[in-house]
Amino acid sequence: MNGLLRTKPINADHHLASTGLRRVLGPLDLTLLGIGAIVGAGIFVLTGVAAATKAGPAITLSYAIAGIACAFSALAYAELAAAVGGCGSAYGYSYAGLGELVAWVIGWDLILEYGVATAAVAIGWSGYMDNALTAMGLSLPPPLLAAPAAGGLVNLPAVLIVLILAGLLAFGVRASARFNAAMVVVKLLAIAVFIGVAASRVQPEHWTPFMPFGWSGVMGGAALIFFAYIGFDAVSTAAEEARHPQRDLPIGILASLAVCTLIYIAVAGLLTAVVPYPTLNVGSPVADVMLRLGYPWAAGLVAAGAIAGLTTVMLVLFYGLTRVFLAMSRDGLLPPVFARVNARSQTPVRIIMVSGLLIATVAGLTPIGDVAELVNIGTLAAFLLVCVGVVSLRRTHPDLPRPFKAPWSPLTPALGAIACLYLMLSLPVVTWVRFGVWLVIGLIVYFMYSRSHSQLALEAAGS
Ligand code: ALA
Repeated sequence: MNGLLRTKPINADHHLASTGLRRVLGPLDLTLLGIGAIVGAGIFVLTGVAAATKAGPAITLSYAIAGIACAFSALAYAELAAAVGGCGSAYGYSYAGLGELVAWVIGWDLILEYGVATAAVAIGWSGYMDNALTAMGLSLPPPLLAAPAAGGLVNLPAVLIVLILAGLLAFGVRASARFNAAMVVVKLLAIAVFIGVAASRVQPEHWTPFMPFGWSGVMGGAALIFFAYIGFDAVSTAAEEARHPQRDLPIGILASLAVCTLIYIAVAGLLTAVVPYPTLNVGSPVADVMLRLGYPWAAGLVAAGAIAGLTTVMLVLFYGLTRVFLAMSRDGLLPPVFARVNARSQTPVRIIMVSGLLIATVAGLTPIGDVAELVNIGTLAAFLLVCVGVVSLRRTHPDLPRPFKAPWSPLTPALGAIACLYLMLSLPVVTWVRFGVWLVIGLIVYFMYSRSHSQLALEAAGS
């Protein structure tokens, strides 16, 4: 087992180091990147299922609980992003604090989180896009709208959107951030319209009974809609492209989470206050409610907002995946041939293309759209380890400059870790099994390849 606990030294000037990537992102870009990754399928799609089948009107409580769990983890992320940095995010922090094996597990886990989430959201995007095209009289033949296991040939729109986003990411981070900002404006506008319209049609009796499925329903709902919060962590993968990472990463992480939590509680509260909760179990509950209340124009706008929202979620999570992949290849845990950054675009083009092709294949040919819970368990595991990492690094590196400190540590990271664990335990057994299979595959790769190719191992052997 020799070497599994080897940790990576934290380089004092890493925040300014040149890595071939381009430092162009400011605090607003990072906050918009966070909102880009966060607001998407969770609020526009999952809220309906979660309210109808798990929590009832108490879905607002589920949102508040998941939001609090995320807030503790976000504080931990903010501390480590400012102190440790590096584009590999949680992977890099655990490499410095918890050793190579834990780092590998977290990196492997993040690849699952971002990759599966991107593919799953691409399938949701395809459904929304098909609705929009049909409304314009441009429907695609059904075999081109579903994977073979779902009765079709290939989910073509899902494949195309992933490849288009790969092209954008390869083109450059500045263009990607601009596109993201424009789409975020569209989705926030759509949500504002929903809130404005729905607020005038509240019927308080819809909130009784408030908790039809009891506390276990509220917690099951929280574990499911936790998906809606995923993405603020992707901000931390932008460390090497941020102009002032030590100051701006904590701003981006905490501000995007705060804005989205408020939006979610408002939207979930209104959705269940304007129609009876059992009727929300549909594919596009937010747009659907607007139609049912008699506002087709608002329904159209919400649908456009959802398409924009799902697009930015895919863009930013895909971006996060490529940066974790890059960090792991640089460290030798994945083949270093991927570590090259294109000199012209200053983006990791090889990684973007390879992961784009893989994600497009999964999105086009598998029915992976219903695996939100698998993404949740992976993300919760990463958050848990980040919380543990804060406490561990405070002990092992007490003098490390910490421009942002999680308040009341170790209390807040401990609460974050407990909250994440509790939500993980609220997930179904089948999700744990799928997650276990992914981790076992990861451990096989680690012991067959990464362990002996790791830069740290090679350095140790050479010294
Ligand atoms: N938070 C992202 C979404 O809800 C993953 O789509």
